[in-house]
Amino acid sequence: MKRIPEPFRIKMVEPIHMTTRSYREKALEDAGFNPFLLKSDDVFIDLLSDSGTGAMSDNQWAGLMRGDEAYAGGRNYYRLAETIEELFGYKYTTPTHQGRGAEQILFPCLAERTESKTPVFISNYHFDTTAAHVELCGGKPVNLPVSEALDTTTPYPWKGNIDIAEMQRTIEEHGSKNIAALILTVTNNSAGGQPVSMANIREASQYARDRNIPVVLDAARFCENAWFIREREEGYSNKSIREIIQEMFSYGDMFTMSAKKDALVNIGGLCCIKEDESIYRSVCERCVPMEGFVTYGGLAGRDMEALTLGLHEAMDDDYLNYRIGQVAYLGERLRESGIPIQYPTGGHAVFIDAAKMLPHIEPRCFPGHALANEIYLEGGIRGVEIGSLMLGRDPDTGEQKASPFEMLRLTIPRRTYTNDHMDFVAETLIELNDRAETIKGVTFTYEPHVLRHFTARFKAVA
Ligand code: F0G
Repeated sequence: MKRIPEPFRIKMVEPIHMTTRSYREKALEDAGFNPFLLKSDDVFIDLLSDSGTGAMSDNQWAGLMRGDEAYAGGRNYYRLAETIEELFGYKYTTPTHQGRGAEQILFPCLAERTESKTPVFISNYHFDTTAAHVELCGGKPVNLPVSEALDTTTPYPWKGNIDIAEMQRTIEEHGSKNIAALILTVTNNSAGGQPVSMANIREASQYARDRNIPVVLDAARFCENAWFIREREEGYSNKSIREIIQEMFSYGDMFTMSAKKDALVNIGGLCCIKEDESIYRSVCERCVPMEGFVTYGGLAGRDMEALTLGLHEAMDDDYLNYRIGQVAYLGERLRESGIPIQYPTGGHAVFIDAAKMLPHIEPRCFPGHALANEIYLEGGIRGVEIGSLMLGRDPDTGEQKASPFEMLRLTIPRRTYTNDHMDFVAETLIELNDRAETIKGVTFTYEPHVLRHFTARFKAVA
């Protein structure tokens, strides 16, 4: 496989330290066998998230000095809003402290427009905080990934797609007046950072718009999705990433964005509305008390400056080739050693199919989480479960929701680790795979009510 070298030189470094196995055993026990509760200083290679964990460029760091730090109407806000209008064609921009800030100010506005007490939000897959915000505003999140996404071994180019037939059926079942929004998550994080095709976005959007259902893009990884469209979809190989992005966003009416991913900043989010002034007004009404005045929304002027620059940098061809190439490199190393992964690899992470790797651990004993604990003990590497644990319980019945996946996500921060780090990760997993049957499942010693996976504590199941 052709290796694409990093398209940057390293100008500043942050030392990281390997610890001993006995040190890690103590650290994990203190953390209640939940890697979220580890100190990052006790982690050697941190693949918990690609969110806010990337490296900014020299230009972004320089941009921080141009923050004007006004309470209202700061120049960094206007530069950001102009950039959004130019790149995406959306008229109204509200900055937020991060992606979930955008969700909390937008979703209640969408919910109250329906006639329903339990408005339905339909998605190719709601991210965990996205689903939580739907539920917090009284809504019901419905995930409709395509069936191809559930089969990790058979390649399919668009495992991020929404199942159009299921979407139509769900809209008919509930009635379009009771549907608060169609949320298209690009790329589809929970399905494995998998891309959504332009054809799928277009068709789903058309169907929803014909029924007056607003189309929301959850655009955290919009550039990575555009890269896959250019690589894989007929008719797009000669288009620029920017042109593809413009078309993608033309099918949305509004977008939420965690800018901590493709926009290459360590903190920040966006809630943008294409042209519906009344929804923008409602968003503003919530923004002021929840996030901050409408021209800063929880961000410092300098953060908005770095975000404006990051939006441009993330569209760069060399950067995207390297970025997605690095994820594929780790995926290939694991695959050639017989480790089951979501294949082909997606944009931001390699997803290990823990249900396949650890078939002796039942979903209720969280195989993905068991593997996350084990990879930390073995190599000081931190990953995160995406499966039953993250999905949680039905708020009405208290029953565990049935998860279509049991995965361990190894999420690659942007511009942060080299392929030598990836080799170390692969070698650690290969060792674990050789003794997979010795790995034990886990059960709760403490289970929080909302977003339990972040702060739960566990013990091994005998
Ligand atoms: N939407 C998607 C698709 C996400 O992946 C995330 C965050 C959010 C919304 C919320 O954004 O964290 O800025 O508030 N994903 C991170 C992750 C946390 O690790 O995948 P946020």
